[in-house]
Amino acid sequence: MPKPIIIDCDPGHDDAIALLLAFAKPELVRVLAVTIVAGNQTLEKTVNNALKVLSFAGVQCEVAAGYDRPLMRPLEIADAVHGESGLDGPDLPEPTFAASKRHGVQVMIDQIRQCKEKVTIVPTGPLTNVAAALVGAPDIKQNIERIVLMGGAAREGNWTPAAEFNILVDPEAASIVFQSGVPITMIGLDVTHEAQVMASEVEYLLNSGNRVGVMVGELLEFFGEFHQTMGFAGMPLHDPLAMATVLDPTIVETKHLPVTIETQGLYTTGRTVVDFYGVTGKEPNVDVALKVDRDRFVQMVIDAMLSYGR
Ligand code: RIB
Ligand code: CA
Repeated sequence: MPKPIIIDCDPGHDDAIALLLAFAKPELVRVLAVTIVAGNQTLEKTVNNALKVLSFAGVQCEVAAGYDRPLMRPLEIADAVHGESGLDGPDLPEPTFAASKRHGVQVMIDQIRQCKEKVTIVPTGPLTNVAAALVGAPDIKQNIERIVLMGGAAREGNWTPAAEFNILVDPEAASIVFQSGVPITMIGLDVTHEAQVMASEVEYLLNSGNRVGVMVGELLEFFGEFHQTMGFAGMPLHDPLAMATVLDPTIVETKHLPVTIETQGLYTTGRTVVDFYGVTGKEPNVDVALKVDRDRFVQMVIDAMLSYGR
């Protein structure tokens, strides 16, 4: 039976590929809704980007706009990485369907309440919507199987030396989610920086003759520009790795550890403080991904992109 999931995202190049990965595997996951949050770009742009990517792939589902800013801070966007549109690179046609008129947080709550099986939430952006749903409707916790999120890092950050972007944008929301008691798998930079797609693999997509494969190749070409300036050999597939972990949990190796979110530090706000040695005495609350089968993961992504009609 396919797992019911809700994807909460901020497309974003890697979010877009995570969406395409999910919809390429209907035998493994049933997408109840796609909820959108501000992050990589403003909410208006991240909503439009989600609609454009899904339309391009011939997919239609409920896409609902959530929060346009963090719970307690001004929005910080990643236009240096994702461009002015939030999805620079390919020239995508206008969407073929409109976003839901319902708020993304309400959609998340309603879908979880109504689902007959426990729902897996897959956040790949700041955790504002997820935190709001957990605070606004704590009863949904009993029908959440797991939160498999892209965010955080046990070691280095990417937006500051200490913090990864998704957690940093809304650390208060992340703290609510990490303390919620809901089972969490953290797909952080420790594994996503190992899960890079290389230029030769991007070339393969660009030369595939498959319209979705070519479009994803164009996304990755643009995404690679920023990462080359950071000294990366390839392009880290952050969000697709979170989705891949839902499809096949053996793609990563995790350790059950205590993780706390720093919300006050002058230099460390947004840090996922991972207690490897139990020195805090806190109970473990997160399955932290520490190793990834990079080759099997990248092949899964490439195969999925080329599984869409030519
Ligand atoms: O730090 C990487 C994360 O921030 C990814 O989810 C990317 O899309 C951005 O949101
Ligand atoms: Ca993202």
